[in-house]
Amino acid sequence: MLEPRPAVRNLKEYHPPLSGRTGLRLDFNENTQGPSPRVLRALRKIAVEQLARYPEREPVERLAAQFLGMDPQQVLLTNGVDEAIHLLCQTYLQAGDEALVVVPTFAMYELLAASTGAEVIPVPALSDFAFPTKNLLDRISPATRLIAIANPNNPTGAVASPSDILQVARAAAHTAVLVDEAYFEFYGETLLPQISDVPNLFVTRTFSKAYGMAGLRVGVLVGSAQQIRVVRKAASPYNVNAVALACLPAALEDQDFVERYAAEVRRGRERLEAKFCSLGIPYWPSHANFVLAHFGSCAQTFVAAMHSRDILVRDRSSEPGCDGCVRITIGTAEQMDRMLAALEATVRAMSIGKGSFA
Ligand SMILES: Cc1ncc(COP(=O)(O)O)c(C=O)c1O
Repeated sequence: MLEPRPAVRNLKEYHPPLSGRTGLRLDFNENTQGPSPRVLRALRKIAVEQLARYPEREPVERLAAQFLGMDPQQVLLTNGVDEAIHLLCQTYLQAGDEALVVVPTFAMYELLAASTGAEVIPVPALSDFAFPTKNLLDRISPATRLIAIANPNNPTGAVASPSDILQVARAAAHTAVLVDEAYFEFYGETLLPQISDVPNLFVTRTFSKAYGMAGLRVGVLVGSAQQIRVVRKAASPYNVNAVALACLPAALEDQDFVERYAAEVRRGRERLEAKFCSLGIPYWPSHANFVLAHFGSCAQTFVAAMHSRDILVRDRSSEPGCDGCVRITIGTAEQMDRMLAALEATVRAMSIGKGSFA
């Protein structure tokens, strides 16, 4: 019997419900349409030679840096943001260290930080999932080596102000502060311009959401040149595969596609929030491509009822502070027509909504 490191043995298993996802996918915050047609054309043009040789990340990394207005030395392309988180944990955390995570949030921060043997300290969001600036500042100690902040946050859609995040980053100069901007395109605010002034700040972006390339696995980690040089040491030179690298330039070129999709999602988000209002379902205003709503004890039944109508939405009850909460991803206008009709019919059939939450 092999003995794993205790930090890994003690990890909770994480099994996102990926199997049997047929129907309208409003459960994983993906783009529900697919990538730009330019990406599909780039895919079709991939040559055998490109598949046979090891992928060269650097030229595409330079394009990504240029697109973000950064120096290439400040940018590392990664196998999705998941890998960026992994690399930050590998670079800065070890047993005896502390990682602060504002909860509820994206599950991979806790999992990957705990896998290093570091202690993960959850800092609960305030009421209505507001960013707990003061409590976070109070928990910073000499042992704190990583602070992870999703902005906008998943699953709440809440945001932290740039000044609050920078206050935390400045108070924890000995700590890597990750601002995960996976949902940037649906929000529009970024801390990228601060990277040059705040040496312990990292920003991530993903191509899994607005760009519609979750299956290709590509993300970006941005930080000071000095820190990125160190993080790069922990990465495989072949971490991003040839297919993703062949598609990324086409994805970056087609900003019209991304802007159109994000605008459609913002309109859909308003429609969903208005529908929750009219049905009397409590929800939290969101800055991302999903909305979290409170169905209380009906959450599981609601998710199953939507599933029976071929619409997948996600019960988030297991997340801290999210008991009875369901997260619904926003799709295209047509998909929202279908979803909103199903939502209304389901809520009426279940007699939930107005009055149930008084
Ligand atoms: C906040 C946040 N960061 C990162 C990710 C994952 O990004 P990627 O697909 O690039 O690994 C997600 C996915 O749900 C997320 O919600």
